[in-house]
Amino acid sequence: MLERVSQGELPAKHHLALRGPAGQLRYEWCLTRQGFEGPFTISYHEHRPQALEAAGDPVYTPLGSPPAAPSESGASQRPGFARRHYRTLELSCEANAGVTPLLYNADLVLGCRKPTRDDPSYQLNAGADELWFVLSGKGTLRSLLGDLEYQAGDYVCIPKGILHRLLPAPGEPHHLLCLELHEGMGIPRAFRNAVGQLRMDAPYCHRDFRRPCFEGPRDEGIRDVWVKSGELRQRFLYAHNPLDVVGWDGSVYPWAFPIRSFQPRVSSVHLPPTWHGTFESPGALICSFVPRPLDFHPDAIPCPYPHSNVDIDEVLFYVEGDFSSRLGVSHGSLTHHPRGVPHGPHPGRYEQSLGVKHTEEVAVMLDCRLRLLATRAALEIEDPGYEASFRGKS
Ligand SMILES: [Fe+2]
Repeated sequence: MLERVSQGELPAKHHLALRGPAGQLRYEWCLTRQGFEGPFTISYHEHRPQALEAAGDPVYTPLGSPPAAPSESGASQRPGFARRHYRTLELSCEANAGVTPLLYNADLVLGCRKPTRDDPSYQLNAGADELWFVLSGKGTLRSLLGDLEYQAGDYVCIPKGILHRLLPAPGEPHHLLCLELHEGMGIPRAFRNAVGQLRMDAPYCHRDFRRPCFEGPRDEGIRDVWVKSGELRQRFLYAHNPLDVVGWDGSVYPWAFPIRSFQPRVSSVHLPPTWHGTFESPGALICSFVPRPLDFHPDAIPCPYPHSNVDIDEVLFYVEGDFSSRLGVSHGSLTHHPRGVPHGPHPGRYEQSLGVKHTEEVAVMLDCRLRLLATRAALEIEDPGYEASFRGKS
């Protein structure tokens, strides 16, 4: 959550009456986190915000079959200790069918989405904060709090409970990496000072974030919203226009952050990925690798050192540039290195990195505290030669 924002009409204090031009009472709606202890946003509506009803039964879409079952390609959804590489550009997402989950555990779901047209209904994730990374495409995230523009290279956060829909710009092929973080996500506490402001030494500042542009009520003629939580989805129908907000204030709202606005750290010797930590969740640390000078000790080995992350499953999503430690991965590649077993650079990359002074790599990394499973959709786009590619000298 970011600093408080205030837009549109508001009464002098919360829980006071706000009236329209004809004297009609506005309806207050409070979105609160952590019970009533955490960040909150209060919006004021022309109609009763709770005037909606379930339309039809819930739809249950399991993320995976029993973990030990083989997929149609013969691979297992239980990853064992093998390193895996998924070519997400090859994923054939059904248009506007939503996110295709690829990896998951009890904390999070990671998937991809390739929307080709506007969402026909509103969406509301009741079970998780969503964090997207826009690999390609641009457009608008429309929510009851206003329109948020996004483009390639942006992270986009949609807090739990915010009604929204996606409007991709025409002619802009989309590829989104989509994370659902069931226990929420936000800015690492260490980046804030005692009053919640981003510290001077944080790797980004308040000005780097884009917030919704609010213009008042907007009736799009849409009355249905799909509410989801984990593997359950259910359609609800509003009695009136849900985008009927006349004003709001608070700290819970969608935002966008360009990955290239992340200020990377550089040291005399190789820094661990935690120094690239950008956002955090109880189940994952999201890191950003962006172009930067490399280690400046005269004997530095800029390539990551072989290591064993005994408590972490490591996921990398490759965006741009030549990643110093890996071969055979490219734009849209997603790799998963399970915990415990030593991993490190591909053969030859360790030595080749000596003397390199700069990297143009752009990538998103996730350190996950729980073991990840793969969905059948992931196995269909798996690079079968990835595990063997680590064999060889060095
Ligand atoms: Fe690693």
